[in-house]
Order: sequence, then structure tokens, then C-alpha cells
Amino acid sequence: MSKTVITFGTFDVFHVGHLRLLQRAASLGNRLVVGVSSDALNIEKKGRLPVYSEAERTEIVGSLRCVDTTFIEESLAKKGEYIAGFKADVLVMGDDWEGKFDAYRDNCEVVYLQRTPAISTTEVIEKIRL
Ligand code: CTP
Repeated sequence: MSKTVITFGTFDVFHVGHLRLLQRAASLGNRLVVGVSSDALNIEKKGRLPVYSEAERTEIVGSLRCVDTTFIEESLAKKGEYIAGFKADVLVMGDDWEGKFDAYRDNCEVVYLQRTPAISTTEVIEKIRL
């Protein structure tokens, strides 16, 4: 039976933590759909414009072997619509969001994956700035 996994994120300044999260998400099913947060949503979520535009971030994520489909995530509140629209069986989030999406357990399976330690977009930007 086909199993669709969906996940969401900004994936700005793409790094190995992003890659491992997507590879592990893909291994939970046979089709991985990734919602890449829009530039506007990132300002709302993280208070800054991403380094790479939504078009560039989507192009990078979409080119990965483990990713089947990408779309731009316009709003956090639309998660339910996206899950239904893509007929997702599993919602994967990093454990920085642990517990925050449990309400979607009525829609699909919800899995929180452990983050790769000691790397984040914010840290990479800080390191380059030094
Ligand atoms: N992620 C991960 N391991 C990391 C960093 C991110 O597994 N070291 C996961 C997040 O949990 C999320 C996805 O990658 O599911 C996209 O994360 P995103 O917020 O875009 O990346 P961060 O590096 O956390 O960005 P920032 O520093 O701007 O918060």
C-alpha cells in the first residue's frame, strides 16, 4: 500500500540537519511531500526574511532524491488542509515542535524526529558572520 509522508520547514541555507530529517521522513513511507515555508511565513515564524528566497529553497529541496513533491506553505494554520489535500498518512516534524501538532492525530499519524545536534540555519549564519 502506498504511504504518503508530509513535512514542513523553511530549509534556509540548506544543511545536513535538513537532509537527515528529510531522508528519515522519506523512509517512513513511499512518497515524501515537503511544504517549504513562504518568505512571508518565515518573517511571521522567525522574525526575519530567509537568506534564500522561497523559489530558491523550493528548488533545492525539490531536487533531492528523497523528495517527491514540494509546495509553498503559506500559513501554519493550513496544516490540516495540506494534509488532506495531499492525502498524507504521516505528518513528520522535528522534535523542536514536540507535542505542538498532536491535534492532527485525528487526521493522520504524527511523528516527531530527533533533530541533528549542533547545527541550525541560525548557527550557520552566525558562524559566517564572525
Ligand atoms: N532540523 C533537524 N536538525 C537540525 C535542524 C533542523 O532535524 N539540526 C529539522 C527541523 O526540526 C525541521 C526541518 O529540519 O523539521 C526544517 O527546519 P528549519 O526550521 O528550516 O531549520 P533550522 O536549522 O532549525 O532553522 P533556524 O535556525 O532558522 O530555526
